[in-house]
Formats: sequence, structure tokens, C-alpha cells
Amino acid sequence: MRLSKTFRDQFIQHEMRTHGRKNGFVTTGQEARLLKWLPLIGLPKDKTLNMANIPENSPIVLEIGFGNGDFLVSMAEKHPDWTLVGVEIYLPGVAKAVGRLADAEVIERTRITQLPAQFVLEHQVEPAQLDGIFINHPDPWPKARHHKRRIIQKDFAQLLVSRLKSGGFIKLASDIPELAVWMRDILDQTEGLSNVAGVGGFIERDEDRIYTKFEERGEKAGRISQFLHYIVG
Ligand SMILES: C[S@@+](CC[C@H](N)C(=O)[O-])C[C@H]1O[C@@H](n2cnc3c(N)ncnc32)[C@H](O)[C@@H]1O
Repeated sequence: MRLSKTFRDQFIQHEMRTHGRKNGFVTTGQEARLLKWLPLIGLPKDKTLNMANIPENSPIVLEIGFGNGDFLVSMAEKHPDWTLVGVEIYLPGVAKAVGRLADAEVIERTRITQLPAQFVLEHQVEPAQLDGIFINHPDPWPKARHHKRRIIQKDFAQLLVSRLKSGGFIKLASDIPELAVWMRDILDQTEGLSNVAGVGGFIERDEDRIYTKFEERGEKAGRISQFLHYIVG
């Protein structure tokens, strides 16, 4: 099976500039599931969250860079009242996540997009629309000349705050100590955010939190993850 050009143009983006891989191998079975589910729960470029049939009063929580979707599945299982919006630019990740969400029978409470988080937040989410945002183990871009590619930047932090309701949360995790400090320092200085652990602090790992692929990978390499929790207002 091949995804048609019309389907690709609508749900699979290749033209927007991002750092990091977008394309890779997707099996025929995964393609079939993308074809089944994306027309129902996908968020193409021309659709905003307001047009996505989200049940009234359902808290809307976004995960940026969901990888294979395991964390999305666990959040959907724990919070049956939430609508989870998953944002991931890597197509094979989107394909895996769609399969996992469907198998767990939680997919109808999600909205999934392969668009970059910057575009989604700027064009598809309204100010003060979100109840929470998770960012787990974002790409570290370790070389100094690539630090500008890191997702947490001053402008992006302000964009995150602007899309959250008062009282909304941002939760982040990283197994790369230098990146954890980078994110903390930017977010601690972002107007409108307060660090639950106090300025300069990290929170303990939530007890009911699942291990994502990258947290596991970090632990195998001997790295201890660090966690951040911010509240708006
Ligand atoms: C290091 S992986 C972590 C995956 C997963 N959160 C985990 O903990 O296993 C970072 C993910 O962020 C995605 N990503 C990078 N830039 C992105 C962007 N601008 N918008 C959405 N996703 C992005 C990458 O494709 C990748 O899957």
C-alpha cells in the first residue's frame, strides 16, 4: 500500500523546516492504520483545535515530541476525561503511536499531528486554550553551535505560556544534565511561569510516571533523569 498524494499533502508534512528527522520506514500495516485514523483524529495544517470536535469541558493536554506514543497512551489511560494532543514530526513515530493508541482503545480521545510544535502552537492552538503541556526528553543538540536548535528557547517558552490557561502546567523531563539546566534556566526566567520546586529546583520523579524510550536509554547509559514542573500564573 502507498499513501496517496492527497493524503500525504493533508496529514504528512515534508515542507516545513525543522531540525531532526521527519521521514523513515512505515510498514504496510502501519499505513493502513494511518489511513483509518488520521482522517478522524488527525490535525492537518488547515484545522485548528477549535475545529477538532473536542468535547466541551474536556481538559486539553499537549505532548510535544511523543516519540513512539507510550507516554500518550499512559496519560490517556490515567485521565479518561482529558483530550490529549500529540505532536511529533517523525512519521514512523506517529505511525507507531497511532497503533499503540488504537490497541489501547484510547485513540478517540487523542488528536495527532505530524506538524512541528512551533507551527501547532502558533497557528492551531488559541491563547489560553491548553490545560497542560508535556515535553519528555527533547533532543539535546549537544554541540554549542546547535544549541539554537533546542526546542526550549526564550521565544518558544513565551509561546508555551501564552497557549496555557491560568493554572495550567508545563512538565518536562531530561536525562541530559546540561539540557535539564538549560530548560530550567530559560523557564525560570519566563514571565508568567512559576517553578513548583522553587527557582533553580527540580521536582522528584512522579511515582506513577512510565519510563519513556529515551528515559530508559539514558538509564542504561547510567544517566539519571531530571524533572521540571511549572505552573502558569
Ligand atoms: C529524543 S526524542 C524523545 C521521544 C520521547 N518523548 C521519549 O521520551 O522517548 C525527541 C522527539 O522530539 C521530536 N521532535 C523534535 N523536534 C520537534 C518539533 N519541533 N515538534 C514536534 N516534535 C519534535 C523528535 O522527532 C523526537 O521524536
